[in-house]
Amino acid sequence: MKEQLEAIQEEALEKVSLVDSPKELQEIRVTYLGKKGSLTKVLKGMGKLSKEERPVIGQIANQVRDTITGALDEKAEKLERAALEQKLEEESIDVTLPGRPVRVGGPHLLTDIVEEIEDLFIGMGYEVKEGPEVETDYFNFEALNLPKNHPARDMQDTFYITNELLLRTHTSPVQARTMQEYKGEKPVKMICPGKVYRRDTDDATHSHQFTQIEGLYVDKNVRMSDLKGTLDKFAKKMFGEEREIRLRPSFFPFTEPSVEMDISCKVCHGEGCSVCKGTGWIEILGGGMVHPKVLEMAGYDPTVYSGFAFGMGPERIAMLKYGVNDIRGFYTNDVRFLKQYHKA
Ligand code: DAH
Repeated sequence: MKEQLEAIQEEALEKVSLVDSPKELQEIRVTYLGKKGSLTKVLKGMGKLSKEERPVIGQIANQVRDTITGALDEKAEKLERAALEQKLEEESIDVTLPGRPVRVGGPHLLTDIVEEIEDLFIGMGYEVKEGPEVETDYFNFEALNLPKNHPARDMQDTFYITNELLLRTHTSPVQARTMQEYKGEKPVKMICPGKVYRRDTDDATHSHQFTQIEGLYVDKNVRMSDLKGTLDKFAKKMFGEEREIRLRPSFFPFTEPSVEMDISCKVCHGEGCSVCKGTGWIEILGGGMVHPKVLEMAGYDPTVYSGFAFGMGPERIAMLKYGVNDIRGFYTNDVRFLKQYHKA
């Protein structure tokens, strides 16, 4: 029996040394150590042995089992390690390969322009305010000296929601809102960027939704010359120090007097060319001295306070600054168009 056991051990160890797959290894394990395995079979025959022989053979049998198990385990580990090494080798990364470029987004051209204008006015001491896009008739019109049935309401074709609610046609209502907030007690120096809506048919220069930036400065002794100085600074910072401005008389119900501001044409410097349609000037924005009635309705005493206001369209400013000739470019969001204007 001893010889039989030794033969089994020798055979098993030889087989273990020859296999090279975990599957075959498992087969060997079953063949020798399994329930019907050859070692098990031998052990079952131990009952026939004499009392003296039994412990001796039993010990040998245990040793044989341990040796085979040890060999199987060792081989299994070896195979596992080899498999891992092979996998690592196959999956090795070539770190010298160039990477795939990651496409990075950026702010929209309009966002950039609005922020540029905000920064400019913040630098002159203005705060940035916001107001609702769904606005009351009162703030959009009445508080700005446009009572019901006032003919100047026709200047702004309006999307009405109800008789009293509408989509704001301009950012000017934020003037009235801010003055009311400050209760006629302290100076106001604010700008308000935001979306506005008009019943217009979209084309190269019209959009039913666009952006405006409102400006308002109310204090004691604010004069027309302050408005002119502020707008001149703005124009030069925005378009270049060599640009001139001019103010033309105009009409807005919420300002008196009212003006429109032009800047000198950058192509012909005021001589007249096709860009400025022969005038030498390009219209930029509207403004004026806040109408006493507007001050009064918002709680500011017009005999103590005065102010100026202005409103501009960032799309128009971006179009002039960057030579964009179709306002729809801002809204159709063609990345090929937009990425031309990404700041580095
Ligand atoms: N709200 C005017 C518009 O949408 C623009 C404007 C003109 C605003 C004169 C002002 C202003 O504050 O004083 O056409």
